[in-house]
Amino acid sequence: MKSITIASLKGGVGKTTLAIYFAASLARQKKRVLLIDADPNNNLTDFFLRNEELDSLQSKSLYNILKGRVSISDAIRIVEPGLGVVPTTPELAKAQNEFGANPGTALRFHNALKSLDFDYIIFDTPPSLTYELYLALYNADHVICPIGFSRWTIQGYQLIAEACAQNNVTEPVCVPFNVSKKDSERISEIELPSTKTSIPKSAEFAKSAINGKLSEKVWDEFSDLTKEILR
Ligand SMILES: Nc1ncnc2c1ncn2[C@@H]1O[C@H](COP(=O)(O)OP(=O)(O)OP(=O)(O)O)[C@@H](O)[C@H]1O
Ligand SMILES: [Mg+2]
Repeated sequence: MKSITIASLKGGVGKTTLAIYFAASLARQKKRVLLIDADPNNNLTDFFLRNEELDSLQSKSLYNILKGRVSISDAIRIVEPGLGVVPTTPELAKAQNEFGANPGTALRFHNALKSLDFDYIIFDTPPSLTYELYLALYNADHVICPIGFSRWTIQGYQLIAEACAQNNVTEPVCVPFNVSKKDSERISEIELPSTKTSIPKSAEFAKSAINGKLSEKVWDEFSDLTKEILR
């Protein structure tokens, strides 16, 4: 089992979109994949589970797993063949205060992940250096950072790279994301650990986010990306 954390300290750069399609692409390649929403803004949860009642989401959420009120396996919703989701609600924002001083919580979570039977675990994370981001980084075998051709998205990567280096976490890999062909060529000229595969700007993603449904038109790029990163 390998864990992949999608992270950037720049908001709106495509983390959630990347997490959703990276995971769904692996599931379509017959892998067993678990997506964990570690962002209290819970856009990933809203994508897959927008019809589930708040009480139900809240009782079997990442926050309540950390609290010890529910087991991780009881909190998994299967949303597509081979694809499970652990949801989050805004309550996760209390994690820093409640668990930050207790290393046992993160250790228990790490051990619970290890006991699961998935090929890949993928974390979506918030654009801030919070408990939930560090939790996802500590468990990461790969860290992936979407970037555009903008100094702010590149800074969003550099800050994650610093946090990884300081905490003995693997070096993040950048994925040119939501970019034109020209921007992707410009990014390839910058000295960054970037993938050759880029994900183009496409109205399909915005439509997909509004409808909470996977687009059927974007799989080739994601299949290339999963192969390049996980080879
Ligand atoms: N390749 C793309 N082409 C066009 N639009 C995109 C693309 N990727 C993402 N978007 C749109 O950009 C917006 C932000 O994307 P997303 O929510 O994935 O970013 P994020 O980094 O997770 O944001 P946050 O930091 O708020 O969690 C969304 O409306 C999404 O549909
Ligand atoms: Mg997001």
